[in-house]
Amino acid sequence: MNSPVMQGLNLNAPSYVKNAHLIAWVADMAALTKPDHIYWCDGSDEEYNRLCQQLVDSGTFKKLNAAKRPNSFLACSDPSDVARVEDRTFICCENKENAGPTNNWMAPNEMRATLQPLFDGCMKGRTMYVVPFSMGPIGSPIAHIGIELSDSAYVAVNMKIMTRMGKAVYDVLGVNGEFVPCVHTVGAPLQAGQADVKWPCNKTKYIVHYPETREIWSYGSGYGGNALLGKKCFALRIASNMGRAASEGSTGNPGWLAEHMLILGVTNPQGKKYHVAAAFPSACGKTNFSMMVPPAGFDGWSVTTIGDDIAWIKPGADGRLRAINPEAGYFGVAPGTNLKTNPNCMASLNKDVIFTNVALTDDGDVWWEGLEQDTGSLPDHLIDWQGKDWTPAIARATGENGKLKPAAHPNSRFTVAATNNPALDPAWDDPAGVPIDAFIFGGRRSTTVPLVTQGRNWVEGVYMAATMGSETTAAIAGQQGVVRRDPFAMIAFAGYNMSDYFSHWLQMGEKLSAADVAVPKIFTTNWFRKGADGKFVWPGYGENMRVLKWMIDRIEDTVPGVDHPFGVSPSYDELNWDGLDFTAEQFHTVTSFDNAAWTAELELHTALFTQLQHNLPKELEATRAQLEKRLAA
Ligand code: GTP
Ligand code: SPV
Ligand code: MN
Repeated sequence: MNSPVMQGLNLNAPSYVKNAHLIAWVADMAALTKPDHIYWCDGSDEEYNRLCQQLVDSGTFKKLNAAKRPNSFLACSDPSDVARVEDRTFICCENKENAGPTNNWMAPNEMRATLQPLFDGCMKGRTMYVVPFSMGPIGSPIAHIGIELSDSAYVAVNMKIMTRMGKAVYDVLGVNGEFVPCVHTVGAPLQAGQADVKWPCNKTKYIVHYPETREIWSYGSGYGGNALLGKKCFALRIASNMGRAASEGSTGNPGWLAEHMLILGVTNPQGKKYHVAAAFPSACGKTNFSMMVPPAGFDGWSVTTIGDDIAWIKPGADGRLRAINPEAGYFGVAPGTNLKTNPNCMASLNKDVIFTNVALTDDGDVWWEGLEQDTGSLPDHLIDWQGKDWTPAIARATGENGKLKPAAHPNSRFTVAATNNPALDPAWDDPAGVPIDAFIFGGRRSTTVPLVTQGRNWVEGVYMAATMGSETTAAIAGQQGVVRRDPFAMIAFAGYNMSDYFSHWLQMGEKLSAADVAVPKIFTTNWFRKGADGKFVWPGYGENMRVLKWMIDRIEDTVPGVDHPFGVSPSYDELNWDGLDFTAEQFHTVTSFDNAAWTAELELHTALFTQLQHNLPKELEATRAQLEKRLAA
């Protein structure tokens, strides 16, 4: 083999890196990708500052006005590289059935043969960053280690915020500890003397997972979930495989769950605390809900954040499900965030932030759609995310569908440490996790689905999650606003067969019941029903507290709810309306259950189950049949 040392490239492994397997793997990858340099990240603040300065010097970062936004930067991506690419995301296990009909599949050997020539020399002219990271608190029994090799300094600094990244990971790894190898390249080698661009990427993209060997290979994109491989690739697609592999059939170890869920704590005026994990599809309100400020009428209530995007969930010593957030930062949606919708998030963004694809103000600060609600007016002038002049007049003249042309990309994001969040839960970092009282599954639906519904039992809850539909958002490359089935908000993230994933959830419920512990209640929500005027009827954001409180009342069994074919929803008088003017008629618009619409909806459930027929748990088909019967009655 053509070792990099033979080519004159020194591996430069620091003396504290003692894992022979890791060093050999880095050598192999360097031999394949042929970077000019190898740099081992130590995770220090000094290193972060140095890499950020380097990104400023190379033009990828713009340093923001230090008086307005201390130690913060703006990166604007290539216009072709702005979101996750689901059609380029692959689960490469030996047997196609194990990937299932909802994942793109290719046999591992075939994929390796496809990627080999693409990765050969892909880092030429660039530095390979060796990024050691822990998903979960370093050294905790629940945590897992990854090493990402990337030719992007932007990735290295984002990983510093999003994960526990740095030297301490090597202490845990030791001489022969295990790690998930993650290789990432923007796929843009530089020839000698060739000038770099601000956002290198390749129009060919591959986001590849080998679940059996637990490897991740990512090619061609520098954006978010495509490139920060600890997040969707590891903490969801590979981890969902790990959690299932840890289970031993119907009697043994229940294994664990890796979910696309926020985790929050909610404390009532008497000081009793509950924990809720909620799965909403991408850009459907997780960050917002996890940082919610209770509205007027909820004196003495508080909400604290454990996580905003991913939860790892396992039965604890007492048998109850406990959840940890494997991440250490937020990669959140900027547009729509303002002092009214999410004040805690706004406070989190005061300093030490990396913004991607938002607009730049004339005084060197950032702007995105939604901030005009705080100031009462649009800015007179901006530089939009594509570097072009933006004024309200230009935006009116160039917008589509009668809307202003956005200055920030709809999927523009901020990267910020969890510790910036004023509402951070004291237990956010606790390796023991927090006990879960309820799960919420919530889609984005302009019609049909009521504001909130409780499943009458675990199976009915799993059915609701499994059949959830949602309108697609800008977080995914491709068409927006199309209703698709998004089971558990995991359509893009379950790293194995979706029907087997449903079984894993059903078995978890059985094991919890058998252990005779409090089993979390399951709810489904929809904040997004629209009126005849095309506007959201439900005020949402902090007002979602009213729904959360009803869920707690259901946990405490203090309200009866109203039974309907799909489950149990609140009556108007079961919600606390203090401080909000929301009429019974408006409430009806967001909670009404329309039999005709549900009959049509049920056909979509049937279509999903037909697609997922192989290994589909019989309980789910039985639940569907019951629902059909109730609708016909
Ligand atoms: P990912 O990071 O992509 O997984 O998304 P997320 O689920 O964390 O989404 P986020 O909370 O960032 O919200 C995405 C968009 O939905 C933002 O534009 C929010 O302003 C908007 N949003 C959030 N909560 C609500 C709500 O209760 N009602 C309405 N109408 N919009 C909401
Ligand atoms: C999502 O798309 O669900 C995200 C953003 O959380 S990304 O990290 O880009 O996947
Ligand atoms: Mn997400």
